[in-house]
Amino acid sequence: MSWNFDQIKNDVTAKVAGAASLEALEAVRLQYLGKKGLVADIYAALPKASADEKKAIGKGANEVKTLAEALVEARRKALSAERSKAEALDVTLPGVGHGWGTRHLIDQTLIEICDVFERMGFVIQRGPEIESEFNNFTALNIPLDHPARDSFDTFYVDQKDPTAEGRYLLLRSQTSPVQMRVMQKNKPPLAVIVPGRVYRPDAVDASHSFMFHQIEGLLVDKKVTFADLKGLLTAFCKKFFGDDVKMRFRPHYFPFTEPSAEVDIQSNIFKGKAGKWLEILGCGMVHPKVFEHAGYPSGEYTGLAFGMGVERIAMLKHGIGDIRTFAENDVRFLRQF
Ligand code: DAH
Repeated sequence: MSWNFDQIKNDVTAKVAGAASLEALEAVRLQYLGKKGLVADIYAALPKASADEKKAIGKGANEVKTLAEALVEARRKALSAERSKAEALDVTLPGVGHGWGTRHLIDQTLIEICDVFERMGFVIQRGPEIESEFNNFTALNIPLDHPARDSFDTFYVDQKDPTAEGRYLLLRSQTSPVQMRVMQKNKPPLAVIVPGRVYRPDAVDASHSFMFHQIEGLLVDKKVTFADLKGLLTAFCKKFFGDDVKMRFRPHYFPFTEPSAEVDIQSNIFKGKAGKWLEILGCGMVHPKVFEHAGYPSGEYTGLAFGMGVERIAMLKHGIGDIRTFAENDVRFLRQF
């Protein structure tokens, strides 16, 4: 029963130094200091040794144990420090870029349309989405018994109108009520555009939605004519869609304008319907009744007004064949714009 303790000390020193990872170091530690390790084996053999041997073996084993413990501990510290350094943040690495969002196509289109009119001198105004029946209907010459007021054609809100007894507030079905708000506060000449959301209980299909965006326009002065209206909207369509745009004015009826028209744009965006005309806006000369509700003196002013559908304009410009895609939030669609 004999051990070469010098050899053992050299071995353990070399093995600890050669342990390249904390896991490898643990294996070396177990080999020497573990319950079934070499030092434990030596101690276990002690009772069988002679008295002389005991002294030398005990001393040798103690020295190996002390040395191994000290070496393992020192190496563990060094390896841990290396590991945390390797895992630490390397500020010189290129960062992971955050994806910046972009404006929704509807917003982009709103801004683009407003820009065209702002360059022509129009000023942006806004109004609330929850409106009174007066502003949304009565003031616009849509009487109480007009079918457009039917509760099936309008979302009413479960909140009484504080200014009209027995009447309820509603989600505006058009941006036109802002005309009244603007005229009651301002005297002509005025030229405003009003972007915003509107709501109608329409059945949803490729070109209809129960919520969509409109841009209202209103210009009031002393001698505004229908020719001004045509010129303005033609200039807009050319600027927005390009000089070769195919547009037409079509006579129409709106209670708040007289005469009234709609503007259609010809396109091929709908599958199987090449050359289809799509209505993008209603327009006309402001009805005298509307001026009366605004409190303007009778016969003094004339005005032009229009209300355009932003979704449809975006569809025509970008060849989008279905209005529902705007609200689906599919990033594959949104990222294209
Ligand atoms: N408010 C109308 C609609 O939603 C659009 C409209 C037509 C607005 C004629 C106007 C206008 O200002 O003069 O269908």
